[in-house]
Amino acid sequence: MTSLKEQLVSLERHAISDLEKIRNEQDLDEWRINYQGRRNGQLPKLLEELPKLPIEDRKEVGIAANELRDKLETGYKERLQEIRTAELQDKLLEESIDVSLPGRKHAIGKLHPTTQTIREISSIFVNLGYQIVDGPEVESDYYNFEALNIPPDHPARDQWDTLWLDYNNADGIRPLLLRTHTSPMQIRTMEQQEPPIRVIVPGRCYRHEATDATHESMFFQIEGLTVDKGITFADLKGTLYTFARKLFGEERKIRFRCDFFPFVEPGVDMSIDCFSCDGTGCRVCSNSGWIEIMGAGMVHPNVLERVGYDPEIYTGFAFGMGPERISMLKHGIDDIRHFYNNDLRFLEQF
Ligand code: PHE
Repeated sequence: MTSLKEQLVSLERHAISDLEKIRNEQDLDEWRINYQGRRNGQLPKLLEELPKLPIEDRKEVGIAANELRDKLETGYKERLQEIRTAELQDKLLEESIDVSLPGRKHAIGKLHPTTQTIREISSIFVNLGYQIVDGPEVESDYYNFEALNIPPDHPARDQWDTLWLDYNNADGIRPLLLRTHTSPMQIRTMEQQEPPIRVIVPGRCYRHEATDATHESMFFQIEGLTVDKGITFADLKGTLYTFARKLFGEERKIRFRCDFFPFVEPGVDMSIDCFSCDGTGCRVCSNSGWIEIMGAGMVHPNVLERVGYDPEIYTGFAFGMGPERISMLKHGIDDIRHFYNNDLRFLEQF
């Protein structure tokens, strides 16, 4: 039978060679139990034999056994350390961030060009003491036409190609439509407020249009209304002149020409001298030297009477303009359809 000493040497050889093959903590634990486990570990088992040795051999084998126990313990600790380091390195590698990669840019949103123009125009009027109000896009025939001095079957209705809602009332009449202009808010405001009135109304309008570079079936308008005692055409001119110079530059000239809108008398269209050619004639002003920017006029007495205002006491002026058209003029945009195509290549320019 091989001596205890020889068995220790062989145990050491096996233990060390097993240890070298171990790659994870679980195998390492099993290894430790196998060689050092208190109950059935190979080393403690061998040591049970120690007392059976002759006394003179006992000391030497005992020392060798202790050394082996230390060796196994140290081997265990070193291997554990190595395994843990390797695991950590794997983990770091897996989770590592390549700081040299270019960052992902966040797209920064901005206001739609129409909204920007509406805000710019609105703030000019707010500084002149105007209040901003809002109104319904689905309107009644009454507010969109009748109360504005445009009776049924009046040829002036042809000026506003109307989208009617597919709904008939008890009399078989279609009373609802998509508002063709923001002017119905003149009536609603006068019904709700007492003079003095100074409001502007930005909002969407709809027309049954064959769309082209200057016509869209959905577009915006900004309506304005001033009503008070003693308002005259001079107030209209002064206000709109101030507005145009604030928006287009201090040196702008203004031209008023007669125009017809059933809800104003007199009615005008207002033009500014072309800021692109300074009035000498170019593409922007179709060689006329003038650019039309809005319709306006003194509120018609019939309109005032209908909302219960005495036209002998109260007078006022109204105006309406298209912010897309103004934006097109200011930025040299050649087609109104660009605004609502949702093409970022266009929208991001503003
Ligand atoms: N509502 C008119 C249009 O759509 C514009 C306008 C408003 C004219 C106010 C005069 C006064 O054409």
